[in-house]
Amino acid sequence: MKILAFAASLRKGSLNRKLIGVVTDILRELGGEVDLAEFHEFDMPLFDGDRQAAEGLPPGALALERRMRAAPAMVIATPEYNYSIAGPLKNAIDWVSRARPMPWRGRSIYLVSTSPGAIGGIRGLWQTRIPLEGCGALVFPDMFALPHGDRAFSDDGKLTDGAAADRLRQQVLGFYRLAEAVAPLCCGEARSDADQKKQQEIVRALEDESRIQPK
Ligand SMILES: Cc1cc2nc3c(=O)[nH]c(=O)nc-3n(C[C@H](O)[C@H](O)[C@H](O)COP(=O)(O)O)c2cc1C
Repeated sequence: MKILAFAASLRKGSLNRKLIGVVTDILRELGGEVDLAEFHEFDMPLFDGDRQAAEGLPPGALALERRMRAAPAMVIATPEYNYSIAGPLKNAIDWVSRARPMPWRGRSIYLVSTSPGAIGGIRGLWQTRIPLEGCGALVFPDMFALPHGDRAFSDDGKLTDGAAADRLRQQVLGFYRLAEAVAPLCCGEARSDADQKKQQEIVRALEDESRIQPK
C-alpha cells in the first residue's frame, strides 16, 4: 500500500522530520510503499477565498492534493505550536479541503509528534485530529507523542528509548493493517464491483444525503 508521509515543519533541523524517518523505516519493513515528501514542496499562501474563487488552488496545494490522491494512507509528523495545531499544517488542510471530491475523505491518517518538551506535542495532536476528522479522514485512534525530542534520537536517527520504539512499532503496525483493510472501501482502488458500489454509497452519504461535504 502506498503511504504519503511528511513532517509539517519547514525547519532544517526539524525533530519531526527525524521522527517521520523512524516511522517510514517501519512502514517500509512492513512492505509499505512510502512517498516521503518535504513540507517545502507544498509551500502555499495563506488561505484566501477570493484567491480561490479567482485562481483555484495554488500550486503547493495542488501538489499536496495530487500526492494524496495517489496514496490511501498518510502519516504526518507535526509540531505542537502554542498548545495546538501548527498553523502551516492547518492552512494546508484548509486549502486542500476546497478540492472536490474531498481529498481528505476516507484517507487513513496516523499522527505523530515530537517536541523538546516533556509531553511531546500530544495537545497539538488532539487539535490536529479535529479538522482532519471534520473533512472525513479516518484518523487512527492512537497517536504517538515523543517527549524530549532534542535528545531522543541516536546519531543514526533511531529512537534511543527502547520502550518508546516498541510502542511506536506496535502503533505503526496497527495503523498499516487497518489502513490496508479499509482502503478498498474508503479511498483506494476498488478491487471489485461490490467495493465500488460501497465507495459510491459512502460518497452519497457524505455528499448527497447529509451534505457534510457538498460538491
Ligand atoms: C510558535 C511556536 C510555538 C511552540 N509551542 C510549543 C508548545 O505549545 N508545546 C511544545 O511542546 N513545544 C512548542 N514549541 C517548541 C517546538 O516543539 C519545537 O520548536 C520543535 O522543535 C518544533 O518542531 P520541529 O523541530 O519539527 O520544527 C513551539 C515552537 C514554536 C516556534
